[in-house]
Amino acid sequence: MEGIKKTFGSVQAVKNGEFNLKKGEIHSLIGENGAGKSTMMKLLYGMYPFDGGTVTIEGKKYDHISPKTAIEAGIGMVHQEFMLVKELTVLENIILGFEPKKGLTIDFAAARKTVQKYIDQYNMDIQLDKKIAQISVGEAQRVEIIKILTRGANIIILDEPTAVLTPQESRRLFEILNNLREDGKSIVFISHKLNEIMEISDRVSVMRQGTYMGTVNKADTNENELARMMIGRDVFLNIEKKKSDIGETVLQVEDLWTSGEKEISKIRGLSFDVKAGEIVGVAGIDGNGQSELIEAITGLRKVEKGKVILDGKDITNLSVKKIREAGLTHIPEDRNTRGLNRQFSIGDNLIEVTLDKEPFSKNGFLKKDAVKKFAEELIEKFDIRPARAELPTSYLSGGNAQKVVVAREVTLGGKLLVASQPTRGVDIGAIESIRSILQDVKEKGLGVLLVSAELEEIMSLSDRIIVMHNGKITGRLNAEDADEEQLGMLMMSGKEEGGEA
Ligand SMILES: Nc1ncnc2c1ncn2[C@@H]1O[C@H](COP(=O)(O)OP(=O)(O)OP(=O)(O)O)[C@@H](O)[C@H]1O
Ligand SMILES: [Mg+2]
Repeated sequence: MEGIKKTFGSVQAVKNGEFNLKKGEIHSLIGENGAGKSTMMKLLYGMYPFDGGTVTIEGKKYDHISPKTAIEAGIGMVHQEFMLVKELTVLENIILGFEPKKGLTIDFAAARKTVQKYIDQYNMDIQLDKKIAQISVGEAQRVEIIKILTRGANIIILDEPTAVLTPQESRRLFEILNNLREDGKSIVFISHKLNEIMEISDRVSVMRQGTYMGTVNKADTNENELARMMIGRDVFLNIEKKKSDIGETVLQVEDLWTSGEKEISKIRGLSFDVKAGEIVGVAGIDGNGQSELIEAITGLRKVEKGKVILDGKDITNLSVKKIREAGLTHIPEDRNTRGLNRQFSIGDNLIEVTLDKEPFSKNGFLKKDAVKKFAEELIEKFDIRPARAELPTSYLSGGNAQKVVVAREVTLGGKLLVASQPTRGVDIGAIESIRSILQDVKEKGLGVLLVSAELEEIMSLSDRIIVMHNGKITGRLNAEDADEEQLGMLMMSGKEEGGEA
């Protein structure tokens, strides 16, 4: 890809894009949120036309690529947000749109045979007859990969595949990627995690603000150099943990029971508390009830038994609105379905929940100037790009959309901030700033309940840590006394605290 240009309305997403991929290599593409990584790869996959430049695939020059051309040229892409149909089975999803026919009916036996061949060849663990809703995120991703392999892809683009994976699942993905490479497939890998980049890549290309910055061999570089190429300065992720004054209990969860998406994620009798001025981290392997716990506390899932007390007030099974009014703010794990209204402007999303209050409304009238000024302040403080409050939120890159949710929620104040995967998909500069903002929140005297799939994030921010396994708490530690190995054990163990099994 050479001299690539792409503009969306008045936003120049790619100014001068360049990328070259060799057969049988894993080539990472890195850059800050909004640098143009996803756009470059969507252009290659034919999702939008590019405005300038050329693409050459196996010697053939293209100045225009349609989705059909891309698939015929052997290009496959796994998107940042999956595109599988939840109600269908794995097999049905894989063959969707390309069903082998026997007469007028779909030949499932033939489909199964073809798909199974790929599963065996790349040693993937996939249950073909399960519904998508029943499988883990890691497995869904393998399904996406199988799907593009069965369409004959030789160039495989993975846009932030590990953002949603547990460390264990990432390991398995890397094994698969290595197998694919050995088989001569070419892989484009996008990630914000520099340790992964250093592990999996052969070469790394860097983009900054829509412009190609250069390509380095993995063997000749290191994490610090990559960070500097991306943002032009050093980044320090090891923030010093601040001690604040611990105050009253702001959240009390007593013998909580809920239903679960899966058997192991039912909440079975959880009790813990969060005090003002502290961050309590919830560690655990994804799917052990963390999401259900957060949903129950924030009013998104029915509490079957037990109590949730916020700042002395019983909020069990109240509506989301009532719970928010009682002083709870929430950075949800899925920004697209729960955190944002994609139809609305960035400005409206930054203030949406407080619209009907002063200073934004008075006597039923919306004060446009106040709204705009407030939104602009947040955009600047949180470095949301493009820095234009009037743009629709659908214009934002993945990481910038996340920043909008974080900015709105931490600015609301209240008593308790529930932060679920707060740094998912944001670049290292933004991780640094979001982590320091969470510390500010606790210094202001709020309690923070933090759920993160990154053990390192839990350890570097929390004052106390609770470990969840199978919908129960298997450990409670002071962060000072916790080490990664011990936490790992507690996350894996079926042992309930104090009990036998
Ligand atoms: N469909 C779209 N409509 C309008 N603007 C867009 C669209 N897609 C991307 N942009 C803009 O193009 C720029 C590049 O976005 P892109 O999604 O390529 O970034 P990215 O490097 O993938 O970032 P992230 O790491 O946050 O995913 C951003 O300024 C974004 O706001
Ligand atoms: Mg992206």
